[in-house]
Amino acid sequence: MADTYHIPAMLAETIAGLNIKPDGVYVDVTFGGGGHSRAIMEHLKADGRLFSFDQDADALQNAIDDEKWEFVHSNFRYLRNWMDYYGVTEIDGLLADLGVSFHHFDCPERGFSFRFPAPLDMRMNQTAKRTAADVVNSYSEEELARIFWLYGEMKNGRGVAKAICKARTQKTIERTEELVAASRIPAEMSKELARLFQALRIEVNDELGALREMLVAARDLLKPGGRIAILTYHSLEDRLVKNFLRSGNLEGEIEKDFYGNILTPFKLIEKGREASEEEVERNPRARSAKLRVAEKK
Ligand SMILES: C[S@@+](CC[C@H](N)C(=O)[O-])C[C@H]1O[C@@H](n2cnc3c(N)ncnc32)[C@H](O)[C@@H]1O
Repeated sequence: MADTYHIPAMLAETIAGLNIKPDGVYVDVTFGGGGHSRAIMEHLKADGRLFSFDQDADALQNAIDDEKWEFVHSNFRYLRNWMDYYGVTEIDGLLADLGVSFHHFDCPERGFSFRFPAPLDMRMNQTAKRTAADVVNSYSEEELARIFWLYGEMKNGRGVAKAICKARTQKTIERTEELVAASRIPAEMSKELARLFQALRIEVNDELGALREMLVAARDLLKPGGRIAILTYHSLEDRLVKNFLRSGNLEGEIEKDFYGNILTPFKLIEKGREASEEEVERNPRARSAKLRVAEKK
């Protein structure tokens, strides 16, 4: 199942970046098809532990049969609470491979893809209340324009928001194909449609809010010498991770001591490494991946 569920990006580079200790406690906050988790497990001996989070119950199809492994069906924004629940006060490493998996695009009924007619859903957690249809039909034109610009980097986000708001006065937009028609983006502009769907997905799942909360919890849980490895796929989340790992805070503010030395909890190990050409050929999604790794001082 894991083979078709997802192909992990930059697998060898990510595992090398984690510098895994065989008896360490590790967290993979984005289990998905389990490719990265399985590779971590291969490095763990009997005393090691791995907690794998996923907010999508479908990921459990890829469960790992091993006593050292624990699946946490939750949003990773609750990392701290779950570690408290398991009595874990410190971790040796954490991996986040952000966004959605191939599985999400391969399930037309989940509404992540503009290519398939389906209900306009896009929830990674199927029990969450807000769907993409809720966002599209209830946000003001300004709010839609803002998320299209911010999360989709759509040059014509304002025009698309206007077209959607006009269309929804005639009929509620409930399906992917209705959104495509309402947006007035021509079918051949598939990149623009992908941006529109990406922007909505990020908003529906509050991806940046969850990332912010998880980063702070990870910083506080990591042991000195512990590693955090993050794979990002678009510029906004990458900027957030880059600034956080440089400064140790969400504001990205670099603090200095009396002598002007930079005070940050992290030493940078990988600063936005990209996939090799050979990997991109095999797995085109890896094209936009950026790997950032830092070590807690
Ligand atoms: C890119 S995939 C990870 C693929 C995985 N590394 C592998 O090797 O198969 C991202 C996964 O993280 C999950 N996810 C994304 N955001 C999440 C969040 N805030 N909390 C928990 N899971 C999340 C998604 O449901 C998806 O299954």
